[in-house]
Order: sequence, then structure tokens, then C-alpha cells
Amino acid sequence: MNDSNHVTPEQAIVGLLSGKSRENPFVVFEQIRQTGSVVQLPFPMGETNNKAWVVTHMEEALKVLKDQEHFCVDPTSIDKNSTIKQSLTGSSDSTGSDMFLTNSLNAIDQPDHRRLRTLVSKAFTPRYMEGLRPRIQELADELLDQVQDQGEMDLVKNYANLLPINVISDMIGVPKSDHSLIHKWSEGIANGLGVGTVDPKTAENLKDFGDYIKQLTADKRKQPSDDLISQLISIEEQGDRLDEEELISLVQLMIFAGHETTSTLISTGTLLLLDHPEQLEMLKADPNLIPGAVEELLRYHGPSTTAGPRYALKDLELKGQQIKKGDMIFPLLKAANRDEQQFERAEELDVTRTIKRHLAFGQGVHMCLGAPLARVEGTIAFATLFKRMPNLQLSIPREDVSWKFKLAAQSLSSLPVKF
Ligand code: HEM
Repeated sequence: MNDSNHVTPEQAIVGLLSGKSRENPFVVFEQIRQTGSVVQLPFPMGETNNKAWVVTHMEEALKVLKDQEHFCVDPTSIDKNSTIKQSLTGSSDSTGSDMFLTNSLNAIDQPDHRRLRTLVSKAFTPRYMEGLRPRIQELADELLDQVQDQGEMDLVKNYANLLPINVISDMIGVPKSDHSLIHKWSEGIANGLGVGTVDPKTAENLKDFGDYIKQLTADKRKQPSDDLISQLISIEEQGDRLDEEELISLVQLMIFAGHETTSTLISTGTLLLLDHPEQLEMLKADPNLIPGAVEELLRYHGPSTTAGPRYALKDLELKGQQIKKGDMIFPLLKAANRDEQQFERAEELDVTRTIKRHLAFGQGVHMCLGAPLARVEGTIAFATLFKRMPNLQLSIPREDVSWKFKLAAQSLSSLPVKF
């Protein structure tokens, strides 16, 4: 990056936020990184005097994600009367959006987080995930059956978007006839949420989504089955420690957290493999390489640009920067995953790379609960796609592939392919 020394942190971050570099935020990350590994953001935090920061290297990102003595996810852990949450979510009405956005597992601190996470982990075991394999395979095949004879599809719309939502809906116990409803709500919410805003349509989606899950939970209470909601209800009834609101909020979070992220892994991963045909050929020749390729795709261009914001519980110094109690810090996961001090040839995609650790699923106590599921889904999605459609290729010029860009995530709007 020849001109990166002339870019101020402010200019680099404004570039990132404005979405100027939709396809390649890594240019911006590099510009930010060149200015330091802990960089102040050029916007104030609500009405407070606190500052907002990003961290771009693995070492500092790990510190922010893992050090619970200095960092939390809920600003009310610092100050009971903090209004930061409301200023970030733009909420505090009675739509139910408050509960969904701010009281979910990802946004609460200890001891409540530990209690809830321990309870859900009882249902969300690796063994349970492994047991889902045949069903995920069936769902992947069903989707490809529908387009196989057409010779072309939009990989985002017909495959990448549908597989994760069908898998989670199925796992939770949503009847098949309602999968499209869940899809509509999840997508509407993902597209409608921004920092500081919940527009009326998104609020309506959140409310309808919440009401549906509430009703489904009531039905499962009467007639339990082998799905995740029934398991969570039985945990709740055994220990009486997971209340109704927590259960509903958890189920919503899983759908929301597991849909767009996994969909992006599948669509962006496919594009990256088409961009690197020699690596794709290796995977087709030896599908045993696919689980490792999934890790590399997550490292190289994972779905989440940043983890959720963290807040400093006390003053501290981080790589020469004075962080004050209450300051907000975003660990830029995508930037840390290209940290040259951690990964040799970090800017190269290499599906045969041995990866000790990447940050695509975060780290520490809030590390992605659905990571084992996402890994299984990614592996099955790529293996099935390239086995059934070995001649898959883009059906539009590469430069016409279009991206949706947000600070927290970046995904493809569509991916027209022929096979
Ligand atoms: C948390 C990424 C799939 C459920 C997280 C975090 C990241 C992440 C980075 C941590 C956020 C933070 O520390 O602020 C991803 C990616 C996925 C994926 C890249 C797919 C490739 C899933 C799936 C599910 C899921 C399939 C559920 C079915 C969750 C939950 C949390 C979480 C519940 C909050 C955990 C906690 O706070 O204890 N995810 N996720 N995710 N994810 Fe995922």
C-alpha cells in the first residue's frame, strides 16, 4: 500500500464505514493497521465523553475479547444508569426489540452470561451437532435438486441463504411450512438494523418474530419433541433457571446469529474458490481437504468484520493508547485474521494451511456458540455443491459481482452461477 502512510486513522475509518471499499475492506484495514494497532474512531459515544476505538492485531484483539477484568459487553456493568445501549440500538420502546438486542446472551456479562451459556451448552453439544449431519446433507441436496436441471442459479438466493435458515429452523423445531416466514424475518432484521437505528419495519419484524417464537415455545411445552426448543424447555423445567424471556431471546439470537453469517461463509467462500481455481481443483480431487479449507476461508474472509463492541471496565493502557473506563472498543476480526505476525503469507488464500487459531468466531467467553454447527454446514455445503456441480462457474463478469456492506458484516447481494 504505497500511499497508506498519508491516510489518517480518521480517513481510513471513515472509508471503512462509508463502504467505499465494498469488496476489499482489507485495503482499509491495512491503512488503519499502518497507523497503529489500537486506533481511535472519529465519532463520539452518545452524550458521554468516552471514546470509541478499533483494534486491528491479533494480540490486542485477544486481550479485548478474553480479559474479563478489563472489558465487558454490557455498559451497564460499568454504570447501572448507562444510556449507551439505548444510543447504540436506538431503542427503548415497547416493540420487544430492546429485549432482543440488548438482553441476549451476546450482550450480557457475568454471572448471568455464565449461567445462561452453561444451560444452552447442555443442549448445544458437539454430539448433537454431529447428529445433525445427515439432515444437513438432505437439506443441501434438496436445494440443489430444485435447480439442478436449470443449469444456472443465484447461489446466494437458491443455496447459501436457504441452507442455514432451513437448518436452524429445523433444529429449533419450526415446521417446514414456516421456514420461509423465519427467513423473511431474519433477513428483514439483518438488513434493517444499524448502529443507532431500528426503523419501524424492522421493529415490526422483531415483534412478529418474537410473537411467533413465543407461540412455538408454548406449543412445544404442550407437545415436546426432539428439537432444541423442547430441550431448552426441559432444561428450564429441571433447574428452573432459564426463564421464559431468556429462552425466547436465546432462540431468536440463534436464528439471527446463525443465518446471515453461515450464508456469507457459503457464498463468499464459493466466490473465493472460483477466484482460486487451482485450490478449488485440490478440493474436488480430495474432499478430505474441505474442513481445513473452511477454516482458511473463515480466516481469510470471514463473515464478521468485527465482534460486538466491548467496554473498558477500568482505565488501562493498550499498545500505548490510554483507554478510559467506559470507552468502547471494536475488535476487528477480519483485520486480526490477516495479521502478518500470526500468519505467514497472511494475504494469501491457502486451503492447505495449518491454522492454530483464527478469530472468525471470536474468542473468550462469548466465542460463537454455533461454531461447530457452522463448520459442519460449511463443509457439507461446499462438498455437495462441488460434487454435484463440478463445472460451476460465474455467469456474470467477475467485476459485476455486487456486495452489501455494513460495519459488522459484509456479504454478497447475489452470485449468479452456471453449472
Ligand atoms: C457469537 C461469528 C454461526 C450463534 C458469535 C461471535 C462471532 C460469531 C464472531 C462472537 C461475537 C462477540 O464476541 O461479540 C459467527 C460466524 C458464523 C456463526 C462467522 C458462521 C460462519 C453461528 C450459528 C449460530 C451462532 C450457526 C447458532 C445456531 C451464536 C451465538 C453467539 C455467537 C448464540 C453468542 C455467544 C455468547 O455471547 O456467548 N458468532 N457465528 N453463530 N454466535 Fe455465531
